[in-house]
Amino acid sequence: MGAGSIERPGRCRFLAGAASVSLFPGFVSRANAQARALPIPRLVDSTAGPIRLEVAGATHAFGTFRPSPTMGYSSTYLGPTLLFRNGCAADVEIRNLLDEPTSTHFHGFLIPAAADGSPHHPIAPGTMWRTSFRVAQPAATAWYHAHPHGATGRQVYSGLAGLAIVEDLDARRHGLPATYGIDDLPLILQDRAFDAEGRLVYLNRGPAMMMGMRGATFVVNGVVDPVARVPAGLVRLRILNAANARNFDLAFDDGRPFAAIATDGGYLREPAQLRSLVVAPGERVEVVVDFSSGLGVRLETGSDTTAALAGRLPISGRIMGRGSGPLLRFEVDRALPAQGRLPDRLRELATVHVRPELVRRTLSLDMGTSMMRGSSEHGGAHASPFGINGKPFDPNRIDFEPRLGGDEIWDIAPQMMSHPFHVHGAMFRILEIDGEPPPAHLAGEKDTVLATGPTKLLVSFRQPATTEHPFMFHCHVLEHEDAGMMGQYRTI
Ligand code: C2O
Ligand code: CU
Ligand code: CU
Repeated sequence: MGAGSIERPGRCRFLAGAASVSLFPGFVSRANAQARALPIPRLVDSTAGPIRLEVAGATHAFGTFRPSPTMGYSSTYLGPTLLFRNGCAADVEIRNLLDEPTSTHFHGFLIPAAADGSPHHPIAPGTMWRTSFRVAQPAATAWYHAHPHGATGRQVYSGLAGLAIVEDLDARRHGLPATYGIDDLPLILQDRAFDAEGRLVYLNRGPAMMMGMRGATFVVNGVVDPVARVPAGLVRLRILNAANARNFDLAFDDGRPFAAIATDGGYLREPAQLRSLVVAPGERVEVVVDFSSGLGVRLETGSDTTAALAGRLPISGRIMGRGSGPLLRFEVDRALPAQGRLPDRLRELATVHVRPELVRRTLSLDMGTSMMRGSSEHGGAHASPFGINGKPFDPNRIDFEPRLGGDEIWDIAPQMMSHPFHVHGAMFRILEIDGEPPPAHLAGEKDTVLATGPTKLLVSFRQPATTEHPFMFHCHVLEHEDAGMMGQYRTI
């Protein structure tokens, strides 16, 4: 990971100095001077020309172990942060240097299904896939990751994920912290299991299938227990849970409050003050933390108590990744510029309006015994115990046909445990989780929600999908998804 200098030529060039994400030139050498400094993925600007990434096997040092075999996007692990601008065209070329197929999905992008890199866009070994789209969505933190049919869990676990930032002038207008790598930091959170040699261990059978692959070691931006140097002021953290299965229950060890400002689909209406926050796999949240006291602090996770639905699944704490512990430490460096402020209002957000004539669908996220009962109908002994509405994923079956431009109510019914439910190509508003309206920090536009009980969503379909290029919806526990807890829709 290294320096990226930002040139902004071409039709989407912003006025000098007006871009909301800028790069402080000194940060890379400063960070590298320290052992296990928080790595900051370099920034690659889509408006400077086509983004070219190579997917390849690598060897990566996580920091406390011997190096492990990994995979990365033009990196030894993870990939650069891709910068997109609302209103601008983007071209991305992905070359696959692995000896197995992959695909690259743009999670959180409102782009046509033909461009979003689903399992229907495999990139064969030695070949290149090109996608082009126009960015037409508000500022947000999104991401990209491998999504090949049946191997998503293993490839993402090996390192095939990276952050993406969609920017427009909002951040500059708000005055929010926006200097990438200084007061605007990406935090890619993962848990991993290592063997005695320091190699990543990946399993997708037994408990690692039922609960999703989990590990006792926390990794942030690809390293264990890093230190981030921050200015003595407000700092924005762009948090992505890129774990295969684990929910992180985040809090600072001194109990300091922080403000959630954005969720998957961009800014909230106004900042939401919190002291702790659960982030599920696939979700992003942007928070602003105050370091003006000069005091350093640790960001910790509590145990993953949200995974089991009370009393439904008897599982041991060890398997659940119940472990709690520190993720990273922040140290204040008064030499760094502190400039940001926190506005009272962030965005106009339409009031959720549920018209009675909307189409309603129920999606039962099935696993284990809840699906075994019906397994003779669809393949007997070979049926996967994972599916949606009793059916495991079939790439040749279209499950739903929502109207392009329309809205629908989706009732998500998680079975056995909580599941992070994700829809491609659409944003939704949460109407209810377990009978309650969503808390303030989940009241914005979302593409992924942790269904801890019956969850009601208002989904807006604004991007086209066809039989040939459908959109996916699935559980973001990647082992559940690979095993069949996924479906597809086309728009009509
Ligand atoms: Cu982030 Cu279909 O996934
Ligand atoms: Cu997605
Ligand atoms: Cu699941």
